[in-house]
Amino acid sequence: MPVVSLAHAQGEAVAFAALVEPGTEARIGIDVEHLRRRPPGFEEAAMSDDERRLLEGLPADVVDEWLLRCWCAKEAAGKALGSGLTAAPAVASIDRDRGQVDVDVDGQRLLVGTLREGELIVATTLGERGGS
Ligand SMILES: CC(C)(COP(=O)(O)OP(=O)(O)OC[C@H]1O[C@@H](n2cnc3c(N)ncnc32)[C@H](O)[C@@H]1OP(=O)(O)O)[C@@H](O)C(=O)NCCC(=O)NCCS
Repeated sequence: MPVVSLAHAQGEAVAFAALVEPGTEARIGIDVEHLRRRPPGFEEAAMSDDERRLLEGLPADVVDEWLLRCWCAKEAAGKALGSGLTAAPAVASIDRDRGQVDVDVDGQRLLVGTLREGELIVATTLGERGGS
């Protein structure tokens, strides 16, 4: 059975598709955002204090990029479980080398892959369990 997750941002659209066994829970999610300066207050509104502490540990020149990677990861994880942002997905950890973000949502920890393609940030998840 084919399953699809969609995202769009300022004229760009992305889709993530997978085939799952009939009767299997489909848990895929994607998000896309443009890497550009966010409006004042975005970080405070989008990220909890704990999440901001994770970002503060990064080199200054990658903080904006990883802020967006984390935001996209939260949206992708929320879509994978169907709850969107209403379940308050939260970043638990960041692996810069692998481009991965662990996101806690609905009592589960999901592994989300992120990448930067030019000025676009994309996050995808297959609903796999993230690390502890
Ligand atoms: C679902 C959500 C993450 C989508 O994010 P977005 O930045 O608005 O939009 P995106 O382009 O990334 O994604 C839109 C697509 O996500 C998909 N989508 C929407 N809700 C979804 C859900 N609950 N689960 C899985 N996919 C969902 C749809 O395919 C949608 O495409 P469409 O608009 O063409 O129908 C977000 O809107 C959300 O959680 N809303 C719930 C209400 C909420 O918390 N609002 C506060 C926002 S700060």
